[in-house]
Amino acid sequence: MTLQNLPARVKLVDVGPRDGLQNEKQMVPAAVKIELIHRLQAAGVRHLEATSFVSPKWVPQMGDAVDVMAGITRRADTVYSVLTPNMKGFEGALAAGANEVVVFGAASQAFSQKNINCSIEESIERFAPVVVAAKASGISVRGAISCAMGCPYEGDVSPDRVELVARLMTAIGVDHVGVADTIGVGTPRAVQAAMEAALKHYDLADISGHFHDTYGQALANTLAALELGVAQFDTSIAGLGGCPYAKGATGNVATEDVVYLLHGMGIDTGLDLDALVDAGAFISNHLGRKSNSRVAQALLNKRATA
Ligand code: HMG
Ligand code: MG
Repeated sequence: MTLQNLPARVKLVDVGPRDGLQNEKQMVPAAVKIELIHRLQAAGVRHLEATSFVSPKWVPQMGDAVDVMAGITRRADTVYSVLTPNMKGFEGALAAGANEVVVFGAASQAFSQKNINCSIEESIERFAPVVVAAKASGISVRGAISCAMGCPYEGDVSPDRVELVARLMTAIGVDHVGVADTIGVGTPRAVQAAMEAALKHYDLADISGHFHDTYGQALANTLAALELGVAQFDTSIAGLGGCPYAKGATGNVATEDVVYLLHGMGIDTGLDLDALVDAGAFISNHLGRKSNSRVAQALLNKRATA
């Protein structure tokens, strides 16, 4: 296999505190979320999704967003992103001092309805004032395009749908879009097709991949996106993650696994794999189960037998 176009450096956004913990059955105390964020910072993470300003009736696990944001010992060089589905969420994010907000739309109408209770077109109408207000406050805006390869309600999703949402997002001024495989059904060619659809409206530097690993394809899909030159990915410590409105979807690709892949190919991330393994062990121990990261498991086993 020839691997061309690979970036020399890749930026990873750790979504574990948000995507990871929004899907846990047990409520995780704010203090544990804050400790996880501090451990991620210690491992070199400079961009993370800290929490969501969404309805606590819809996602009770993110109901402590204000406490989590207030409890973080911030680093000036770190971006603390939060999810904001509407102006109410944005107001919370602004008050909490988030320096990036994420508007989250979908390439499938059914998922949009289930997740944020409105159509794709209505979601864009709700996001537009969020983008204007964020820009006025110097806050950057990322957009997520969920179900870019498949939907739990509609099945296969065509790249045309991704292109449509990317076009709508760029029209309202969203700076960057994440192409998200919410239910982890994508395979490398489908991922490249979805990325290429988003690339019709965004520069390579302004798109990222967000791959859930439900079908075990996320590392292959990451490599497929890297081959296109994509240099930013959402990953989740210990492979935590899932969406309460995408039943059966499991965690995001594990940060530790992506870091091992990238470092093994000589691609810089600025992250310390051993410290990430420690952060992953901290949250996995709290949750009372093994990490979903194969790399973390391997390194923990190696440590235990050293
Ligand atoms: P709605 O019920 O249509 O909202 O929900 P509404 O505007 O009609 O308001 C109803 C009530 O909710 C009101 O309160 C509002 O104040 C309140 P009441 O008067 O009844 O007491 N409300 C809010 N409260 C707090 N924060 C807010 C907010 N907005 C309204 N921002 C809404 C619409 C979007 C709010 C709801 O559907 C929602 O919160 N959905 C969030 C779902 C979610 O967080 N899903 C997981 C994240 S997405 C994801 O994981 C995918 C991703 O990882 C990428 C991928 O993998 O695909 C990003
Ligand atoms: Mg997700």
